[in-house]
Amino acid sequence: MTQLTGQTVAELDIAALETELSNQSPQKILERALSLFDNIAISFSGAEDVVLIDMACKIKRDVKVFSLDTGRLHPETYQFIDHVRRHYGIELEVMYPDAAQVEALVNAKGLFSFYEDGHKECCDIRKVAPLRRKLATLDAWITGQRKDQNPSTRASVPVVQQDTAFSTGDRALIKFNPLANWTSADVWMYIRSYEIPYNPLHEKGFISIGCEPCTRAVLPNQHEREGRWWWEDAGKKECGLHAINPVQGS
Ligand code: ADX
Ligand code: SF4
Repeated sequence: MTQLTGQTVAELDIAALETELSNQSPQKILERALSLFDNIAISFSGAEDVVLIDMACKIKRDVKVFSLDTGRLHPETYQFIDHVRRHYGIELEVMYPDAAQVEALVNAKGLFSFYEDGHKECCDIRKVAPLRRKLATLDAWITGQRKDQNPSTRASVPVVQQDTAFSTGDRALIKFNPLANWTSADVWMYIRSYEIPYNPLHEKGFISIGCEPCTRAVLPNQHEREGRWWWEDAGKKECGLHAINPVQGS
């Protein structure tokens, strides 16, 4: 099939594609996504979504990957992102926030304003704006979102959707979530079976990993999302990267 571009993506029947792919394995979903789009990239957080990179590299050599460096990631995550770049020999682009916006926020409110004001303002500057800049160059993106990551906001994440939060008037952006139906156990079975590299923070009780000041290890049987923005309500634990997910309690 001819690959889709920004001009022809509007012709894609998303509902039919979702029906076709909804019960497929992550590998099949990735294969379809990479065959449909050339201008497509994996959004890699530096955590267990490394499985997407491993799967994609087994399908295609020149996989495009990007990470959002908020300036507040753990040292282990920086090391891991670079390790993944070298291990897979991939093009891994790192996106940075606008320095003037970060300076304005930090100089007005300090380095930890999110504990007082909520995380939205900082996430908008450090994550969402750089993501918007990157997505403006793509026809489709691939994320590691899973339904089991957040029962409040991700329970109905589909394997493919139009990303209405980042599409523009003349450009539809498509979002693939190949791991939507996998559980954390499935992901870890894959990581261990194929002995692929993982972030060493996972050995220290971290399950879900984001920025250092906003992530903490969880206790046995605590839900992974309880380690993220723990001072906020469960329904608000989305940072704007996945703004099309329903947000409860706001
Ligand atoms: S978040 O929105 O709450 O931070 P989460 O950590 O659950 O997201 O990760 C879900 C998916 O969002 C990841 O698999 C990845 O595709 C994307 N993502 C999250 N953080 C980043 C990041 N710093 N850089 C690139 N992609 C990210
Ligand atoms: Fe800022 Fe925390 Fe959001 Fe990172 S997760 S961008 S440090 S509020």
